[in-house]
Amino acid sequence: MYDLKRLFNNTDVLETIPKSELTQIDSLLKKSIDKNYQHSGCWQIDLINIFGKELVLELLDDIDHYNYSKYKDYLGVETKNHLDIGSGSGKTPLLIHKKHADLTIKCVDVSTNYLSQEAKAILSKTKKITFSCYEKGSNLPYPDSKMGSASLFYVLHHCHPIDNVIRLLNEVHRVLIKDGFLIVIDEPIRNSNHKRLKEQIDIAVNSLLFDQELSLDIIGENISKDSFRTFENKPDQHPGFSDLNFFANDELQSFFTETGFKLIEYIEPNNWNWIFDRAIYILNKQD
Ligand SMILES: C[S@@+](CC[C@H](N)C(=O)[O-])C[C@H]1O[C@@H](n2cnc3c(N)ncnc32)[C@H](O)[C@@H]1O
Repeated sequence: MYDLKRLFNNTDVLETIPKSELTQIDSLLKKSIDKNYQHSGCWQIDLINIFGKELVLELLDDIDHYNYSKYKDYLGVETKNHLDIGSGSGKTPLLIHKKHADLTIKCVDVSTNYLSQEAKAILSKTKKITFSCYEKGSNLPYPDSKMGSASLFYVLHHCHPIDNVIRLLNEVHRVLIKDGFLIVIDEPIRNSNHKRLKEQIDIAVNSLLFDQELSLDIIGENISKDSFRTFENKPDQHPGFSDLNFFANDELQSFFTETGFKLIEYIEPNNWNWIFDRAIYILNKQD
């Protein structure tokens, strides 16, 4: 029997999941050990079938709002400008813009492919948010010491190998003002099983959010299994997602120290569904 409680230390959260759902999750986990199943693309369908498309999206939305309430006081210190790195669909900068309209937000990513229609429409109307594209591994297209704050949300686990993580953090350090803040959200893994599951969940959730093949329009009642494809199947079309490597909490913290950041707050939420668990790191640029 696959023991969920041994895999996930957070038993309080598991207690809140109804027994019928746990049984379904349990059988999904058992199936997910099988490599053929992992690569079949069925994982996404099963995830959505178990939790429901609405619930998955609702949970992600709740998480974004919860996150915002934790980091909002660190945005744009002194400068009233903020840099969001790896903006993806643009949902984080849009949320920040809605809540914090006087802030100038710069967004950067390695591809424009993931921007949502909503983000494109808002970008065309306001000068408060701008979007730039740059090549993975190169310097960020911004001058030294100008940004009051920066964010890296769910990006570091796509920056494999470690050299790329360090390079990106060094670049963020360069563009921040003295004492500027960096907010990192990522999903520190607890052990190798957790890492493997995170990888699958990541493919599923990112497919749901970013993959045109999996746009919300096509995730309907009569969806054909053939329409589901994972990012793994077409990595060249997804330069931002081709590398996937989740880190443990102590690894992430050592990257921050090595690149000149001091951890001033670590928020490990315990009230989310284990599938979407993540941590927030509030960091301060050191000289
Ligand atoms: C999981 S998505 C997260 C998107 C967004 N931050 C959010 O919270 O919804 C990861 C994003 O990081 C981007 N990315 C990956 N490597 C990057 C890098 N070295 N520099 C900037 N962005 C990168 C990907 O293109 C993708 O848009």
